[in-house]
Amino acid sequence: MLPLATSAILLAVACQPEPSPPKPKTLTASEVHGERLYKTTCASCHHADSTTPLNGPGMQGIFKNRFLPSGAPANDERVHEVIVQGRRNMPGFGQIFDDTQIRDIIAYLRTL
Ligand code: HEC
Repeated sequence: MLPLATSAILLAVACQPEPSPPKPKTLTASEVHGERLYKTTCASCHHADSTTPLNGPGMQGIFKNRFLPSGAPANDERVHEVIVQGRRNMPGFGQIFDDTQIRDIIAYLRTL
């Protein structure tokens, strides 16, 4: 009877009279940690809520495009490398952050 039960649930969901208002995005612990690091370290040069450049390019939707502003592929490896080594006018943070912290920053960037 599983298929029937499943369709009953789907039907119940589909028939809700009012669509529930979109829930505010809840971040995971890792993303929250990354956001904190971002605000203290990256936000002075990068807007989180727009693509307009500040000192460096805005980070909104940075992982939603295939390419980073430099033209490099928008993936974890590349962004990890930029954070560690820096790039032109961006300082590197390899001496400041460990891998876990960088992973959390990337997790946060993925929510933008
Ligand atoms: C002192 C200012 C400054 C700080 C602080 C800074 N950045 Fe940058 N960032 C820049 C500049 C400038 C660029 C553009 C580099 C270039 O010329 O391609 C950049 C570029 C980038 C890029 C795009 C790289 C590409 O390949 O296009 C990413 C992603 C990035 N920064 C992430 C971060 C993160 C995450 C932090 C915090 C850990 C951070 N930045 C902190 C100035 C900064």
